[in-house]
Amino acid sequence: MKKKINLVESNLLNVNDMSEKFLLILVFLGFSNAIEWKFPADFKFGVATSAYQIEGGWNADGKGTSIWDTLGHNRSILVKDRSNGDIACNSYNKWEEDVQMVKNLGVDTYRFSLAWTRILPEGYATRVNQPGVDYYNKLINKLIENGIEPVVTLYHWDLPQVFSALGGWTNPVIVLHFANYARKAFELFGDRVKTWITINEPRLICEEYKGLVGDVTENFPLGISEYLCAQNVLKAHAEAYHIYDREFRKTQNGKISITVDMTWSEPATNNSEDIKAAEQNLQFDFGIYTNPIFNFDYPKIVIDRVARRSKMENFTQSRLPQFTTAEKLKIRGTYDFLGINHYVTMYSKAANEPPITKPSVKTDAGGERFRDEKWKGCAANWIKLVPWGLRNLLKWIKINYRNPEIIITENGYADDGTEVLEDDGRIEYYQGYLNATLQAIIEDEVNVKGYMAWSLMDNYEWTHGYELRFGLYHVNFTDPNRTRTPKKSVKFFKNLTNTKTIPN
Ligand code: NOJ
Repeated sequence: MKKKINLVESNLLNVNDMSEKFLLILVFLGFSNAIEWKFPADFKFGVATSAYQIEGGWNADGKGTSIWDTLGHNRSILVKDRSNGDIACNSYNKWEEDVQMVKNLGVDTYRFSLAWTRILPEGYATRVNQPGVDYYNKLINKLIENGIEPVVTLYHWDLPQVFSALGGWTNPVIVLHFANYARKAFELFGDRVKTWITINEPRLICEEYKGLVGDVTENFPLGISEYLCAQNVLKAHAEAYHIYDREFRKTQNGKISITVDMTWSEPATNNSEDIKAAEQNLQFDFGIYTNPIFNFDYPKIVIDRVARRSKMENFTQSRLPQFTTAEKLKIRGTYDFLGINHYVTMYSKAANEPPITKPSVKTDAGGERFRDEKWKGCAANWIKLVPWGLRNLLKWIKINYRNPEIIITENGYADDGTEVLEDDGRIEYYQGYLNATLQAIIEDEVNVKGYMAWSLMDNYEWTHGYELRFGLYHVNFTDPNRTRTPKKSVKFFKNLTNTKTIPN
């Protein structure tokens, strides 16, 4: 990557009659050319979506019901615009157009998710729904025909409804059913899918949408359910990884890992207490999920703090369930790369111990968090333009997890539809974050191998409905045809993929 210019070796200094001035110009040219600000040849660009957010066809051709179908039908009061994903982008019917859009961007990969209940309508691997399998076969084949590599997420939040009554991810029975589903998916599609992501953003599953996952009320005991969920997510991921490893890797030759959403916590000052608070936040935000996989067991700070607070709350033992040694060993090393979704940076500051009220991961984490008012934002109030946060995060991963291969499986910017097609804000966002990625690759030698934009097109943004638009392509949701139109950022991306350099 780095082209180091050695003037002595290149014989320039041996040329006796060269004037000093000319030599200086050459030296300048040499240095300005020394680093090629370009993504490596094997770096892969992509775009991402997920099943419930784009497919529609919620009950088409024998598909079963997921917790998000139920939420959209019975409790759309929880969704900003009271909408649901019944039709969404209608990708169930418009998948060919989707592939053309992906192709037009010139990207190498397309990340999408399988709807568990489209393939296994009852949730159990007892009966396969052939039309659902046909749908994904057509999509996968078309992508490959067009030179686009499918990157498939098994679970992007649309849990089969049947498991909701059992408490969703808080019930250990889910581990077996997820494993059976994963095995089916490898059997059905693994001859062509070479990159698998087991689970998308466990923190969102266990903490953010906990009330929806188990179909429970606000009184749900967070500080217990969140950790139970984390435990089962990790076991389910590991189970799927081992199934792939034992039964499929040899013949299918792909790779498999998890995608974790990683918020960067920057110490508010150089004060050692603030540095400690930031580290604590990192471990509670994502270390709970990544440490058992990339190191061993939960992070020590998490184990210690939850035990301490549990005691203060008069629990007889820690609210954090323990893994057996066999389980720890089984989870450790279950990755071929690390998938990261990155959107958020925050400052962390030491603070007084939160009072003993209702336990939750948030109060267990402690510390005070804030954003800089001056950071530029977008329509999603949690997203600010802080590219250096991504760079610091990537460096942290390299140091703490022994330089694993990293694929940025999501990074993106929301507009509210008013910027419509002239999405200069999005272009500025991508310029910043791509530049931070390049800095991490070139200057910090972090092993980042891919970058996927969220999202290919505007889609159903969960409890924000259709109000937040993350797409490179605009989708008209009032038009029955769900017409897609390229935004200005499509041109930017085409340029990027074409040149492997960041367009100005
Ligand atoms: C991460 C999630 O994986 C995706 O589903 C969501 O739309 C984006 N964040 C934007 O919020």
